Amino acid sequence: RFLAQREGDMRGLKVMVTAAGTREPIDPVRFVGNRSSGKMGYSIARQALLRGADVTLITGPSALTPPPYAKVVRVETTKQMLDACLAVYPETDIVIKAAAVADFKPRSVADQKIKKIHPEDGMTIVMDQNPDILKTLGGMKKQQFLVGFAAETQNLLENAASKVKKKNLDMIVANDVSLKGAGFNTDTNIVKFLYPDGTVEALEILSKDEVASILLDRVMAKRKR
Ligand code: CTP
Ligand code: CA
Repeated sequence: RFLAQREGDMRGLKVMVTAAGTREPIDPVRFVGNRSSGKMGYSIARQALLRGADVTLITGPSALTPPPYAKVVRVETTKQMLDACLAVYPETDIVIKAAAVADFKPRSVADQKIKKIHPEDGMTIVMDQNPDILKTLGGMKKQQFLVGFAAETQNLLENAASKVKKKNLDMIVANDVSLKGAGFNTDTNIVKFLYPDGTVEALEILSKDEVASILLDRVMAKRKR
């Protein structure tokens, strides 16, 4: 009842946000992961809720508390995130994929903890490529407005623009994770918005809540046309 009564320009819209990083197990006690904290995705979920949207937050492991009234789906691996996304995608109006998805996973997961037997030996983990969640969603797109993120350390605009095309996105949020004040586990971000028509909007350094709020302004404006 609380949800139905709320005001805001996103009232009635179903928004799916993915956040934090996925993890791939190596053995029962170890995993391959990344430095994503979930801050950007949780900020987007919070801002969308404040504007009246119905929010599903699909999140990898994160120390953060999800915003109240979000439907939270907790996942660990990329495959689990893919399945969770596919389950809600048909009913979704806006998808914002802020998660840092593990691109690779160990080819096999050891049943028992891997022991170090010979002190002089190194060790090799063979990894296979994970499915691309966003590309999968882009290929099935109907009414959904699809927003991706691009974390880059070089050739930001070029790489981000090619992701818009490859994944059939309506918008991408590109951030140079090598800049101070941007990217993983910071409270601020420095981003550029790119669209399929080639236009670019560069934002100054802002809090992740401010980035989230402007991002939703742009999504709402673009959806109308
Ligand atoms: N993404 C995804 N599934 C993957 C990898 C990435 O859904 N297996 C999504 C991310 O959530 C993000 C966007 O795709 O919204 C771009 O992620 P990024 O890591 O920047 O790009 P990749 O396509 O994985 O390419 P690369 O890491 O090689 O730059
Ligand atoms: Ca990647």
